[in-house]
Amino acid sequence: MIKIGSRAIDTNIFLAPLAGCADLSYRLVCREHGAGLAFYEMADVNSIVRAQGKNKDLFMPHPDDRPVAAQLLGSEPELTLEAARCLLALVKPVFIDINAACPVKKVMKKRSGAYFMLEPDRLYRIVEKLAANLDLPVTVKMRVGFNHIDQNHLVSLAKNLEKAGAAALFVHGRTRRQLYHGKVDYPSIRAVKRAVSIPVFGSGDVLSPQLAKKMFEETGCDGILVARGSQGSPWIFDQIRDYLKTGVLPEQVTLERKKRVLLRHLEYMQELRQSRPSNKMGLMRKMALYYLYDFPNAAKIRGSITPLKSYKALVEKIEGIPLG
Ligand SMILES: Cc1cc2nc3c(=O)[nH]c(=O)nc-3n(C[C@H](O)[C@H](O)[C@H](O)COP(=O)(O)O)c2cc1C
Repeated sequence: MIKIGSRAIDTNIFLAPLAGCADLSYRLVCREHGAGLAFYEMADVNSIVRAQGKNKDLFMPHPDDRPVAAQLLGSEPELTLEAARCLLALVKPVFIDINAACPVKKVMKKRSGAYFMLEPDRLYRIVEKLAANLDLPVTVKMRVGFNHIDQNHLVSLAKNLEKAGAAALFVHGRTRRQLYHGKVDYPSIRAVKRAVSIPVFGSGDVLSPQLAKKMFEETGCDGILVARGSQGSPWIFDQIRDYLKTGVLPEQVTLERKKRVLLRHLEYMQELRQSRPSNKMGLMRKMALYYLYDFPNAAKIRGSITPLKSYKALVEKIEGIPLG
């Protein structure tokens, strides 16, 4: 159990925000395998405000998709508050997170996402604005630096976020320059943890139960985010929980089980119809490849899946993949 602001959450192992990946189907499958909290996909404040409640695709409520958090990408306090209000009219997240971690160029141009690591003043104002005007906790997902790590700067940024009213910090232990590659800097996450009294979550290379344990041990963090470690491996949540409790490494997941869970995941995607038809097949094929990457003849399987154009054809292909 962990408390974020006034909200108690049953687990401290969350499914990380994953734009373009962790849609409703993905979240439901992860929840069936132990993910106790998930994030909606990140939403740009401009598009939320412009859509005026028409973002139903992204924020499709579902009784099993709870508790859920929302993440906003914005750069102006007023507009971010307006977007948060539009969002709250649609769904009831347990907290709202501000993205100060996204590294893409388009976002840097808008001086948002990881850009806040360079110029944090507007980030403080956004957090202050939301914390003062909303009746739910506001958190921040950040990186440990922009081009390089300056621990003094990082620690003062974390302290200022706490002062501005942040209820928790999610810290990806890489700089913006590293994107998603290279070493995760555990000491920097530890420095943030020591600097503030709000919960600090570690993110970065939580790819296995052992690496989850390492994140806790090296940083002293209060919780962890599982990101790429869940792609094609939703059972990682149960595995981490069991390993932390017993110290016993999980048995290897059988190919038969991988196929079964993949088919269930695709069935959700087909039934819930969350993705727009134009990109749905692409996302289905992408998900299939995550699950099938370590099957015998994986390269051949990949080649045979890429051209498939329908759900039915994809399911037939997967059902026909030999297990031995
Ligand atoms: C496909 C993908 C989409 C992501 N989308 C977001 C996002 O919308 N918001 C965010 O804060 N982080 C996002 N991240 C970053 C992850 O939440 C996480 O911090 C990062 O991948 C490091 O964890 P990992 O090394 O265990 O994957 C994304 C990562 C990936 C791979």
